[in-house]
Amino acid sequence: MKEFEIGVVGAGYVGLATGASLAYLGNRVTLMDKDAQRIAALKRGELPIFEPGLGEVLAKCSKRLNFTVDLDPVVQAAEVLFVAVGTPMAEDGSVDLSDISEVARGIGRTLSGRDRPLVVVNKSTVPVGSGDYISMLIQEGTEESGGGEANFQVVSNPEFLREGSALYDSLYPDRIVIGADSRQAIEVMRELYRPVVEQSFATELDPRPKNAVPLLVTDLASAEMIKYASNAFLATKISFINEIANICELTGADARSVAQGIGLDARIGSRFLNAGIGWGGSCFPKDVAALRAISAEYGYEAIMLPAVAEVNERQHKRVIEKLQQELHTLRGKRVALLGLSFKPNTDDLREAPSLKIASKLDGCGARVVGYDPVAGKAAGRAVPELVIVHDPYEAIEGAHAAVLITEWQELKEIDLKRAGSLMQEPRLLVDGRNVYDPRKVRDSGMLYRGFGRE
Ligand SMILES: NC(=O)c1ccc[n+]([C@@H]2O[C@H](COP(=O)([O-])OP(=O)(O)OC[C@H]3O[C@@H](n4cnc5c(N)ncnc54)[C@H](O)[C@@H]3O)[C@@H](O)[C@H]2O)c1
Repeated sequence: MKEFEIGVVGAGYVGLATGASLAYLGNRVTLMDKDAQRIAALKRGELPIFEPGLGEVLAKCSKRLNFTVDLDPVVQAAEVLFVAVGTPMAEDGSVDLSDISEVARGIGRTLSGRDRPLVVVNKSTVPVGSGDYISMLIQEGTEESGGGEANFQVVSNPEFLREGSALYDSLYPDRIVIGADSRQAIEVMRELYRPVVEQSFATELDPRPKNAVPLLVTDLASAEMIKYASNAFLATKISFINEIANICELTGADARSVAQGIGLDARIGSRFLNAGIGWGGSCFPKDVAALRAISAEYGYEAIMLPAVAEVNERQHKRVIEKLQQELHTLRGKRVALLGLSFKPNTDDLREAPSLKIASKLDGCGARVVGYDPVAGKAAGRAVPELVIVHDPYEAIEGAHAAVLITEWQELKEIDLKRAGSLMQEPRLLVDGRNVYDPRKVRDSGMLYRGFGRE
């Protein structure tokens, strides 16, 4: 099996998981980031993000891993260069491509002094057409530096990993998508991903290799669209079940049973049908907004996408409504938020529902206390009115109500009797993820409010 010389630009959630998994498979990897503090931490063996299992793999592969803030030597050395920088949402909902544009020009400048071919693999989520745009910027960068025709190919390789299981998802993905026009570049990508496709390795994460992983080759535009369409579909699935749950509440049906019943249909599938306070995070909100903005650019008015986002916004508000129904005025009431990261097993707070809910509660005059196993400190910085404590029971103590925002395992397993005894009337537990047994909550002396399961 060939060992590649890999460069990865952007050492965030995606770049780190990509670099670690490729080093684990025997390649030499240099991770580059413009954030000097981040690179210094990685050089010291410290992980700048919370991601289970990642630190161990980085340590294990340390001989095949390097970290730097300099782009030039990485581009010079690499056979394959992954780009995994952020593509955040601009104010109008479109995609801010400034980081990726800066990287593309930088690659171009270095390529002016290099003859060997380079495969530039874009892992960042970018609007359709960005592959060609990146190619153009690279070529411009080369020409600005006095070079002629740069020897490179751009490939789109969208990333589908989930934070919290990023490494596992990189080694055991559901599928790999390669979008490219160049047959040569496609062959390089096939060779690079051969162990992942064939699952011809065993890891501590999953000792038993699985079936071959599908590798789908498409044109550039389709690969770029697959990423947006995937995230928009997943967000739609959650918003759909939340809408159904809201109707269930009014009609007396149980949303969990309904989800089970519809999920057994193989055409629908049971995953992503859990009603609750809705989605957040670094991907769904920006990607749904971006797809809407992209379609508008082409003169197409998306109908479903804004509705999917609106249902989600409404779910955040429903938390406040559920609290008001039992507590009436929220002024002066103590409300505990349990779990603050946008999902369990990550420290990521980007577009986390907890922050919006905390701000809304503060706006209503409530005293808001929050607990999270890893994201507490950063959440406190993001919403200064949110008082952060270091233990879930400390958050609950004296609270009129507690809201489960993020279903960390330790919060799912909370001692309900102890929680009930620590709270003050009306001892309301809003189960934002429908994880508790309503009967057990009531037996513990608390009022229970879930989503679609009154
Ligand atoms: N986080 C996820 O779960 C996930 C999943 C799939 C796809 N994606 C996509 O992958 C991309 C990266 O996401 P992320 O969550 O890893 O972002 P991130 O913010 O965690 O990491 C991005 C990194 O890029 C670095 N960077 C920015 N500009 C740079 C430059 N000019 N040169 C070098 N480094 C630079 C930043 O310092 C940062 O460390 C985004 O497009 C995102 O939509 C993310």
